[in-house]
Amino acid sequence: MRGVTVVDHPLVQHKLTLMRDKSRSTKGFRQLLNEIGMLLLYEVTRDLPLESIEIDTPLTRMSAPQLAGKKLVLAPILRAGVGFLDGMLELVPSARVAHVGLYRDPETLSAVEYYFKAPSDLEDRLVLVLDPMLATANSAIAAVDRLKERGARELRIVCLLAAPEGIANFQAMHPEVPIWTAAIDERLDEHGYIVPGLGDAGDRMFGTR
Ligand code: PRP
Ligand code: URA
Repeated sequence: MRGVTVVDHPLVQHKLTLMRDKSRSTKGFRQLLNEIGMLLLYEVTRDLPLESIEIDTPLTRMSAPQLAGKKLVLAPILRAGVGFLDGMLELVPSARVAHVGLYRDPETLSAVEYYFKAPSDLEDRLVLVLDPMLATANSAIAAVDRLKERGARELRIVCLLAAPEGIANFQAMHPEVPIWTAAIDERLDEHGYIVPGLGDAGDRMFGTR
């Protein structure tokens, strides 16, 4: 599917199956989301530009690669997007973080903003929008709208599960923003839940239901 990368690495797929299982504990669910976050970050940053710097090894001087440009911005959509954050920050400890507080109105399924705090210089940075679930994509669309409003120009979506309807909605609004996901599921149900899915990601992560 154009603009969508499915991360089919066996470790990701195995861990995702463990997460889908309804008997997984809150602790296990959270730990797995963290671990998959690291693996997804590895894939989504595969093409980051490098530059050469001169360093001295204990043996000689050499020209060695380092990441070029400004630090990444990780932009979790609250609450469930936070589940990716710790794992990703282990890999890129100097990344900046933009918190995007949105909840999905259960009746209309539209996204309602309640918090937004981002670094000021988004225009020079790659912004990774994090949310395990891309269902209708109303939340991801609202988050990207808001980040663009604040200057972001290069964005990528990182999720765990995407519904075909959500991918289509998102690409209609933000066709240039690519999506990385561990799986594309079958469909949405009448309440806007991803099927087969894994249930409510925020509730399973924080034990709130
Ligand atoms: C869930 C999920 C996404 C959103 C996806 O959040 O974490 O943010 O729904 O659905 P959408 O693609 O249809 O917008 P929710 O609103 O349940 O908030 P929570 O993370 O605080 O539980
Ligand atoms: N939000 C979730 O947490 N799960 C879904 O299946 C859809 C939206």
